Amino acid sequence: FVMVVLLIRVLLGDVGAGKSSLVLRFVKGQFIEFQESTIGAAFFSQTVAVNDATVKFEIWDTAGQERYHSLAPMYYRGAAAAIIVYDITNQASFDRAKKWVQELQAQGNPNMVMALAGNKADLLEARKVSAEEAETYAQENGLFFMETSAKTASNVNDVFSEIAKRLPRL
Ligand code: GTP
Ligand code: MG
Repeated sequence: FVMVVLLIRVLLGDVGAGKSSLVLRFVKGQFIEFQESTIGAAFFSQTVAVNDATVKFEIWDTAGQERYHSLAPMYYRGAAAAIIVYDITNQASFDRAKKWVQELQAQGNPNMVMALAGNKADLLEARKVSAEEAETYAQENGLFFMETSAKTASNVNDVFSEIAKRLPRL
C-alpha cells in the first residue's frame, strides 16, 4: 500500500536571499557559488518516502526581483505551504520577508502553513538579523522559524520536512 501525498509549496523572498540555492540543495544536494537570479519562476519536484507514504513535493521557486512581484499570486494561491526566505546578513531582506508574510496573510490561502527561513547561517560574522528577533516575529505571526544554510546544508531538509508535519492530515 502506497499513499501518495502531493504537497505544493512556494518559496518567496528578496533577490539573492537564497531561494533557488535552498531548493537546489533539497532536490539535488548541490550548492552553486554563483547561482543565477531566477527569471519568472522555476518548478522543481522531489519524491520522498516517509514511513509507508510517498510524499511528492512540488515546489515553485519564485523570482525575488521586484518586476516579477505581480506573478507571485499565481504561485502562492494554490500552495499548501510557503517558505519565506531572507538572508541573515541583509536587514532589507528581512524587511522584505515581513512584507511577504503580510501579503500571504491578506491574500493567501488561510490554511497555508508558513515557514520563515533565515538563510546564509554559515555567514555568522556578517550577521545583521538576530535569531531572537526573527523567532519573536515568527511566533507573533504564527510562522515556523529556522535558520538554514544552502551552502553547508544545515537545516535545509528540516525546513522542508517540518512543514509537512504541520499540514493538516490528508
Ligand atoms: P533570486 O532568484 O534573484 O530571487 O535570488 P534567490 O533568492 O534565488 O538567491 P540565490 O539562490 O540565487 O542565491 C544568491 C546568492 O547567494 C548565490 O550566489 C548563492 O551562491 C548565495 N547563497 C545562497 N544561499 C547561501 C548560503 O546559505 N550561504 C552562503 N554563503 N551563500 C549562499
Ligand atoms: Mg532564485
